[in-house]
Amino acid sequence: MDFETILGVAVKAAREAGGYAASHIKSAGEIRYKGGDVNNLVTDVDERCEEIIIAGIRRSFPDHSVLAEESGEHPEKDACLWLVDPLDGTTNFAHGFPVFCVSIGVMFGGEIKIGVVYDPCRDELFIAEKGRGAFLNGKGISVSRVGTVQSSLVTTGFASSLAAKEHNLRYFQRMLGSAQAVRRMGSAALDLCYVACGRFDGFWEPGLNPWDTAAGELIVKEAGGTVTTFSGETHNVHDKDIVATNGTIHKEMLDLLNN
Ligand code: IPD
Ligand code: CA
Ligand code: CA
Repeated sequence: MDFETILGVAVKAAREAGGYAASHIKSAGEIRYKGGDVNNLVTDVDERCEEIIIAGIRRSFPDHSVLAEESGEHPEKDACLWLVDPLDGTTNFAHGFPVFCVSIGVMFGGEIKIGVVYDPCRDELFIAEKGRGAFLNGKGISVSRVGTVQSSLVTTGFASSLAAKEHNLRYFQRMLGSAQAVRRMGSAALDLCYVACGRFDGFWEPGLNPWDTAAGELIVKEAGGTVTTFSGETHNVHDKDIVATNGTIHKEMLDLLNN
């Protein structure tokens, strides 16, 4: 498998879709609500970005499988699976709040091999290839060296349903009482990339999907960080709960979440 070529195709698609989204921030088109949930938004731009990405994949790899947030599964015969979030941070995007990105992960043999996250508002491209490190705009990145939760800037997110929000509130409260500060940006893929480059020391969120985490998880690990479930198990892309840290504060964060 030629992962360099796959990475190139993923980067091109992420840049193209991200550029499209950024240029439509003032004209998101129709906003609709998924599953009747008024907090679960999808815009015409999410769908157009997804079309751009899938067309890019299909041009080079017609046999690869795709799982994309808005259009679901596109199974093909090749064992390579692309996990696509065309616009992570849709609520931010729909309000003109410039914190959103494109997230593309590629799995092969049960492992995430490629991660690409592109933030078009800052022109920041985060990439990782399994075993080859993580990069931001071409420069190697690594997680922070902060040693305690008390000195950490941590982040989380809330899924759209009320039940999911209530579920995370108790974790939020615990972390507020323990960390230096807690942020909530509204883009899980960027949360993960910010852990990878040391802007955040830790991130947790219950209730995420494979397209939210696939790319960012690899980027954190390749930057030297640790990614697990809340119970400390290896995080599988289908696991809903994720904890990603600089490694040093990981156990302390797990203890806080589980106490
Ligand atoms: C959402 C964002 C948000 C997270 C939600 C996700 P979307 O993705 O990543 O930060 O808290 O759980 O669903 O819907 O904007 O692609
Ligand atoms: Ca998402
Ligand atoms: Ca999305």
